[in-house]
Amino acid sequence: MGKNILITGGAGFIGCHVVQLFVNKYPDYKIVNLDCLTYAGNLENLKSIEDCPNYVFEKVDILDEAELKRVFEAHAITDVIHLAAESHVDRSITDPLAFVKTNIIGTVNLLNTAKAYWKDYSEHLFYHVSTDEVYGSLDHGGFFLETTPYDPQSPYSASKASSDHFVRAYANTYKLKTVITNCSNNYGPNQFPEKLIPLCIHNIRNNKPLPVYGKGENIRDWLYVVDHARAIDVVFHQGKAGETYNIGGFNEWKNIDIVRLLCQKMDEKLGRAAGTSEQLITFVKDRAGHDLRYAIDASKIQSELGWEPSLQFEEGIEKTIDWYLSNESWLENVTSGNYQKYYEAHY
Ligand code: NAD
Ligand code: DAU
Repeated sequence: MGKNILITGGAGFIGCHVVQLFVNKYPDYKIVNLDCLTYAGNLENLKSIEDCPNYVFEKVDILDEAELKRVFEAHAITDVIHLAAESHVDRSITDPLAFVKTNIIGTVNLLNTAKAYWKDYSEHLFYHVSTDEVYGSLDHGGFFLETTPYDPQSPYSASKASSDHFVRAYANTYKLKTVITNCSNNYGPNQFPEKLIPLCIHNIRNNKPLPVYGKGENIRDWLYVVDHARAIDVVFHQGKAGETYNIGGFNEWKNIDIVRLLCQKMDEKLGRAAGTSEQLITFVKDRAGHDLRYAIDASKIQSELGWEPSLQFEEGIEKTIDWYLSNESWLENVTSGNYQKYYEAHY
């Protein structure tokens, strides 16, 4: 059956892969990408589908309630997949209020708009995309399960935890049909080069220092972004209303080992002598309140919905490096701020 799906944050890293997957796979759905194009939103990410008849872009801020109402009415929105957020932990440490505004108030605005616009809630789904960081830090072993108590440690994760609570509160209080997924660290093409992997690729390419926080001993569980988009597709279509699903790759790495792997692969690809790029590694002051370890137990989505990651990490890293090396103009644009000037002039 045809649906008119509002995908928020569709010009960002994960959102652009979700939008591309849905536009290509479901020609009967109308996909409305709603994004206000912060520094992290980039319409270049969507060049391959921008002319598709089932795709529409709306430059709207989720803090603008009147505009949200207009978009729901104009496109007769049937479902929401909500990704728009401030997403970088370091930025949340310097400007927590921006995270409160977009991640908490923006989410509540969207919930209110859906609640007011939809009539029979059983026919519509509000899908909230969240993070494993809401569970806190695994300092003493174990894995994050869907039942792990929330224990957010950074302003970013506190804002995401709050947004998750609001989604559950709207399901409980108003009977909105909702689903939440909490995913581990994503990597892959189109990620803004403030995050560890694209930052290192960019800096190795340009012979700049690779800032490793603390001793580089912190552990993250990495998943290729296209596999996250595939999981969102599966949960959107087969997930049980009211449920939470954890998404992850069972793929834990210490930061320093990832940085060394990137150095080794980049030396090979750039024809540099082995060990050249490792000399760029620079240990710097640790992130304030730095979570030690994240690790998702993704058994529930695997056993109940049959989703599994499609790529091994080394294969995903190769694809990621190759993408950045063959899209240097994308990196140049996002790091120079030229694309922001372009949007100011055109949108
Ligand atoms: P991103 O920063 O790359 O993209 C965020 C997008 O949201 C951008 O296009 C931005 O323009 C848009 N946006 C921000 N504020 C907005 C506002 N007020 N109104 C409208 N649009 C706005 O983020 P990402 O890494 O793609 O993350 C997407 C979602 O997935 C977030 O909710 C994040 O919490 C979650 N998540 C991310 C990861 C990860 O590793 N990156 C892992 C798990 C969950
Ligand atoms: O776990 C999911 C989360 O993963 C998402 O919810 C967030 O949106 C996403 O940004 C990511 O958060 P992290 O803080 O884990 O990602 P980041 O790439 O910023 O950092 C990864 C690890 O690398 C972390 O332990 C901090 C460290 N790091 C990061 C940067 C940017 C460094 O050592 N040096 C750096 O320069």
